[in-house]
Amino acid sequence: MSQKKIFLVFVAISTVSLLLHHGGHLNWTMEAFHLGCPALRSHPAPGLKPKHTNVAFLKTHKTASSTMQNLLFRFAERNNLTVALPVQACSHQFCYPRSFTSHFVHPHTLPPNIITSHMRFNKAELQRLMPNDTIYVTILREPGSMFESLFSYYNQYCQSFKRVPNGSLEAFLEEPWRYYRPDEKDSMFARNTLTFDLGGDKDRPATDVVYARAFVAEVERVFSLVMIAEYFDESLVLLRHLLSWDLDDILYVKLNMRTPSSKRSLTPGLPAKIRAWNSLDARLYDHFNASLWRQLSALGPACVAREVRLLRRAQERLMRSCFGGRMPLLRSAAQIKNKDLRPWQPSGKVDIVGYDLPVNLSRGFSSQAQELCLKLIMPEVQYTRVLLRSQSLRYRRGYQLRPPQQSHPLQQPIRSVLPRHPQVHRGQPPPAAPGPASGTGSTSTSKPAAETQGRTTKLRPKSSQTQAS
Ligand SMILES: *[C@@H]1O[C@H](CO)[C@@H](O)[C@H](O)[C@H]1NC(C)=O
Ligand SMILES: *[C@@H]1O[C@H](CO)[C@@H](O)[C@H](O)[C@H]1NC(C)=O
Ligand SMILES: *[C@@H]1O[C@H](CO)[C@@H](O)[C@H](O)[C@H]1NC(C)=O
Ligand SMILES: *[C@@H]1O[C@H](CO)[C@@H](O)[C@H](O)[C@H]1NC(C)=O
Ligand SMILES: *[C@@H]1O[C@H](CO)[C@@H](O)[C@H](O)[C@H]1NC(C)=O
Ligand SMILES: *[C@@H]1O[C@H](CO)[C@@H](O)[C@H](O)[C@H]1NC(C)=O
Repeated sequence: MSQKKIFLVFVAISTVSLLLHHGGHLNWTMEAFHLGCPALRSHPAPGLKPKHTNVAFLKTHKTASSTMQNLLFRFAERNNLTVALPVQACSHQFCYPRSFTSHFVHPHTLPPNIITSHMRFNKAELQRLMPNDTIYVTILREPGSMFESLFSYYNQYCQSFKRVPNGSLEAFLEEPWRYYRPDEKDSMFARNTLTFDLGGDKDRPATDVVYARAFVAEVERVFSLVMIAEYFDESLVLLRHLLSWDLDDILYVKLNMRTPSSKRSLTPGLPAKIRAWNSLDARLYDHFNASLWRQLSALGPACVAREVRLLRRAQERLMRSCFGGRMPLLRSAAQIKNKDLRPWQPSGKVDIVGYDLPVNLSRGFSSQAQELCLKLIMPEVQYTRVLLRSQSLRYRRGYQLRPPQQSHPLQQPIRSVLPRHPQVHRGQPPPAAPGPASGTGSTSTSKPAAETQGRTTKLRPKSSQTQAS
């Protein structure tokens, strides 16, 4: 880096931290943030670009996706957006592992801006449900550590794993077909889980290269961004640019982790076996990790590094202000006093950690700040319940106010009542083209704004492609 650049970085950081110190702990204007990213100056926006608010995040298993879900829930609440949530019969997921259909969506959560709960992806059904300028995002994780995590998390839950003597990952990988039954309940946790979540065929043989290639290509067509768990913060920076969001919008606390003691490192040779057994996932991962890094390099490594640094700093500030000078209290689920904060435990053998709030949190905080702190660390099951409650309330109120001729989504086929949004597709890596200029957080569920479209958005090819299956 030249001296001039270093100086600019210094000025940017100083400016930003100055603004921060004077601006309340959650106040970070977009302009201030952009000072740190010269790459963005080539697209001076007339005023700020509106945030994109229609997002479908495919929540994959064991990939830091709970953290993403929490972030999206909070974004939706802040912007009065509607999050599609499952009907009660589906629990807190969209009846996973069944393939998604709009019947799984709670009527009080229609029409949605955001969808992020676990599902098995079904493109056609989602496109029917979501506004048509919805941006699709998902996240993948490196197959070795992912499989180790699945194996330990679902050890007592998934039959294919339960059969293995001594719960030995090595034994499973030695002879997977001895334990694995492709058609059994929960078998999707034992092979190519990512492929399955994305709607693909987890049991295609590794030799079917044509299928694998076509599947990767299909995922690439549908998803504007495929995040990578190993590079979570970098992925968030890309997300921020893609959606024209602020730094505040991507702050998070890691959720749904195991205690360090229930994690293990893989012995030499295991990663290769895991990749061979999960060859479709491995191919997906390699492809999208490479594409992530291409996008990061297009945005400019210095710019990315700067944003990641700013993100982490803002995160520390938030932690300090929320949890009184220390990180939130990391606790195993059984020790967490506040029921609202206790994460779901897959089995007695794996300890999922959650957070507890310091007892004196309330002192000196507005109830709004307290609420934010609580939501930051609220596990998915509880947060889903809270959101459904508040959206149902809003829905009922809106229903009373709605003119009679405007019919309720359930009284018509879904298609005819959903808002029509201009189509948008980002064929370029996010930074290269101006973001989709749509979706100014429509503030009511009954009246989604008719949005005008950004300049360089191009039409998404009609989805004649059928879901790879
Ligand atoms: C955030 O900062 C901007 C400028 O620094 C200021 O105008 C605005 O009032 C602040 N907002 C809050 C909520 O503090
Ligand atoms: C969200 O709705 C509340 C209550 O209707 C309103 O006071 C608030 O300004 C809205 N916020 C946004 C960002 O639209
Ligand atoms: C399982 O553990 C027992 C006792 O530790 C040992 O004797 C046995 O060989 C192990 N079995 C396998 C398949 O590793
Ligand atoms: C992801 O891709 C980058 C860039 O090619 C590479 O350096 C890195 O090792 C990859 N990560 C993993 C976990 O494979
Ligand atoms: C909460 O209590 C602890 C110990 O009693 C104290 O050290 C800490 O400063 C308090 N935090 C706040 C925000 O009051
Ligand atoms: C998307 O929205 C546009 C404009 O509202 C509408 O004309 C078009 O038919 C919609 N496309 C689909 C596939 O629903």
